[in-house]
Amino acid sequence: MTQIPAANLPGGGSMPLLGFGTWQIKGQQCYDAVRTALDVGYRHIDTATVYRNEDQVGRALADSGVPRDQVFVTTKVPPKASDPRQTLDASLQQLGTDHVDLWLIHWTEGGSVHEDLWQVLLEAKKAGKARDVGVSNYSPDQIDRLTGATGQQPAVNQIEWAPTLYDEELARWHERQGIVLEGYSALKNTNLDDPVLREIADAHGVTTAQVLLRWHLDHGFVAIPKSATPERIAANFAITGFGLDEQELARIDGLASDG
Ligand SMILES: NC(=O)c1ccc[n+]([C@@H]2O[C@H](COP(=O)([O-])OP(=O)(O)OC[C@H]3O[C@@H](n4cnc5c(N)ncnc54)[C@H](OP(=O)(O)O)[C@@H]3O)[C@@H](O)[C@H]2O)c1
Repeated sequence: MTQIPAANLPGGGSMPLLGFGTWQIKGQQCYDAVRTALDVGYRHIDTATVYRNEDQVGRALADSGVPRDQVFVTTKVPPKASDPRQTLDASLQQLGTDHVDLWLIHWTEGGSVHEDLWQVLLEAKKAGKARDVGVSNYSPDQIDRLTGATGQQPAVNQIEWAPTLYDEELARWHERQGIVLEGYSALKNTNLDDPVLREIADAHGVTTAQVLLRWHLDHGFVAIPKSATPERIAANFAITGFGLDEQELARIDGLASDG
């Protein structure tokens, strides 16, 4: 099996830098995609309460035959959940597990950083229902406010991220804080015909999508590409046979200023 690098989280978890995204796939399509992902080697699945597919992710996990402790499972709670403890219990029940590896506050709403909800996440961590806890779509300022109010900083911040959105300061800030930067919608935010990506892809004999995903790993970012297409699910995982050097990484970073 190919080796995907991982980030060590404070709760003791090991988070593979390449995971499988499941937004906008439901029902049998979600089941089939997650089964394919697990079959080709992904050991990290990203879902959320609002995706309405945790039951299918759970069914695919159970049927895959991959032991639960070998798969890193993330789910997310909406900020306005009326009973977040119950929301987590429902997630666990649907996912068919007694704990998730990562539980995130999905987004911020109404100017709040959701300190009260964060206490529920910390409580879930203590109870062993979530090995690590974090946030999604938070700015550094919002994370500072949350940490300042509670004394406990998130392990991960899941944000929209791609070379076109690359912000060195933001990346460095997460690194300095020891917060894992998990990127989402990288493919949607990238022109896969971009000449820089094309040239680098040709030099390595890979696709531009593979270069894009490798860029995350070589920077230490987490990538969670979604696909419902079996060939793409497999190709997006096949990125361990090459690496990008400093110069290539810098050229791809530069796509942020090209647009
Ligand atoms: N925290 C948040 O607020 C948040 C927001 C958005 C997303 N996310 C998470 O991040 C995951 C990824 O983001 P995303 O689903 O928005 O978008 P994405 O992974 O950037 O892009 C998915 C799209 O790219 C296509 N695709 C996949 N592999 C490809 C390849 N090798 N070549 C060309 N096209 C390819 C897919 O098509 P096919 O499916 O047709 O193959 C699909 O249309 C989500 O699934 C979700 O888990 C989180």
